[in-house]
Amino acid sequence: MSQLSSARPGFYRSRLGLPGAVLAPMAGYSDAPLRQLAAEQGALWTVSEMISARGLVLGGDSENLSLGRPFEGETNRVVQLFGAESELLARAVQKVEAWFAPAAIDLNMGCPVPKIRGKGGACLLQTPEVAFELIQAMKAATTLDVSAKIRLGWDHDRSVEVAQGLAAAGVNLITVHGRTSAQRYTGEADWEAIARVAAAVDVPVVGSGDIRSAAQARARQALGVAAVMIGRGAVGNPWLFRALATGGDQYPSAQERARTALRHAELQTRFYDDNTGRLTLRPLRKVLPQYLPDHPELRDDLVQVVTLADVERALAPLLTSPEGAVKPDPGAVALSGEYA
Ligand SMILES: Cc1cc2nc3c(=O)[nH]c(=O)nc-3n(C[C@H](O)[C@H](O)[C@H](O)COP(=O)(O)O)c2cc1C
Repeated sequence: MSQLSSARPGFYRSRLGLPGAVLAPMAGYSDAPLRQLAAEQGALWTVSEMISARGLVLGGDSENLSLGRPFEGETNRVVQLFGAESELLARAVQKVEAWFAPAAIDLNMGCPVPKIRGKGGACLLQTPEVAFELIQAMKAATTLDVSAKIRLGWDHDRSVEVAQGLAAAGVNLITVHGRTSAQRYTGEADWEAIARVAAAVDVPVVGSGDIRSAAQARARQALGVAAVMIGRGAVGNPWLFRALATGGDQYPSAQERARTALRHAELQTRFYDDNTGRLTLRPLRKVLPQYLPDHPELRDDLVQVVTLADVERALAPLLTSPEGAVKPDPGAVALSGEYA
């Protein structure tokens, strides 16, 4: 076990004593810059993009290293692993703990992408007994909390049965995304089903799916989950975490949101250590317009940025004009549907 580890057993329960919400793992989104913005606004914890256990243990490739790397001083960050083989996962847990100083480690049981090798992710919902063994192997490899993130099932809801098995295997927390794998991201997350899981197991259950506003988060929290997790709704709106941590409901002025969009680009450039921004600002093209859903006139410029100077130029009309006071939470802001 590594001396570098920033956490001790009981991480989840200690954070769940506080008000707030959790930033979801999102491949291509929940990297260090997004996590930093969420953490600054009071997210209970954040979860990395999923990392392949096989890639980490056998490949050591630089992409996996960059997916797991914390930003300087990062705490309360859970690292998510993807895999289907006990021994590889146990070794990956040890590497993650030594290299990335996570607060806890999560097993991905929800990724529906079939091309991903090794029958991990949501495939584990078809063979939950394999997942129970994986959790036992991961637990044996670390003293950190180990959690699992599931969907309701592969093509029908068997979440209670799966969650009970995970709890018996020793998992410290279960996150449930209220859709089956077959549903991908269509339809609506079934929060009644999530609530049934929360009532059926003794370990804390976090609910995930379709939260876009503080009011929605509070209504779903009241269904009996230990906390709610927010993914797409937090992209361009880290202030949701502030609202849920403090009980407020504030959505900043366009000027402040523009400043944060610029800061996101600066963090991106700094984290990936690329001063030109040439390589690294492209992934933000889908993110930056989401800070300013009420300024569609900026979109064309924001989706073409290459350098930090481009971002600054695109946002200039808002950065320089003293725009109005704090506005109320916009509620269900329509997102651009770029995740599909
Ligand atoms: C682009 C994208 C990438 C995602 N990547 C992951 C992932 O790496 N691991 C995971 O467990 N879930 C992943 N998810 C699922 C989310 O964590 C979350 O459960 C789901 O999006 C529903 O919550 P939301 O409506 O708040 O986004 C991803 C979702 C999206 C949209």
